[in-house]
Amino acid sequence: MSAPAIETLVGDIAHQQIDAIVNAANQSLLGGGGVDGAIHRAAGARLLEECRTLGGCRTGEAKITGGYDLPARYVIHAVGPRWRGGDRGEPELLRSCYNRALDLADSHQLASVAFPSISTGAYGYPIDRAAAVAVGAVREWLADPGTVRLVRFVLFTDSDLAVYRSLLDGA
Ligand code: AR6
Repeated sequence: MSAPAIETLVGDIAHQQIDAIVNAANQSLLGGGGVDGAIHRAAGARLLEECRTLGGCRTGEAKITGGYDLPARYVIHAVGPRWRGGDRGEPELLRSCYNRALDLADSHQLASVAFPSISTGAYGYPIDRAAAVAVGAVREWLADPGTVRLVRFVLFTDSDLAVYRSLLDGA
């Protein structure tokens, strides 16, 4: 079988037709702004109902729910770290989000997953550093990909896309 693909595009994570989209959530898993707000708006109130049953989620961990009114079948809610200067475990916690999200996709036998740029909005993680962690984590995880055949990075701006593309093209 050919190696899994990594795609990049500018778009809205909530509109992706894919097995699972990843939410840039917070520990409450009860919604918020940015990616989280867009996903909950598009998924409808039943997503929040299911999230209420999960008991929150630790930073660096992930939990999976249904996609409800979304085109995606599942939402994997990952809690990224807030940027506090870079020496408070942020890279390890961010890396763990990508790894745990992909582990969940594999354990649910999913083939395709779309990620936003976790932590680089409200949580203030510098885009260059976050993108390096994201691309490194995904590439390494895909060396032993289980059921996952496609990872898509869905960026919100052309400049974020350029950062991810230069990392992916430069290896
Ligand atoms: N599709 C794709 N990317 C998006 C979208 C979208 N619809 N909306 C924003 N982005 P953020 P965080 C980009 O703030 O930094 C929430 O309130 C955005 O430009 O969504 O992990 C949660 O509840 C940025 O590049 O997530 C948490 O409290 C990236 O997605 C907190 O924010 C992530 O921005 C999480 O903060």
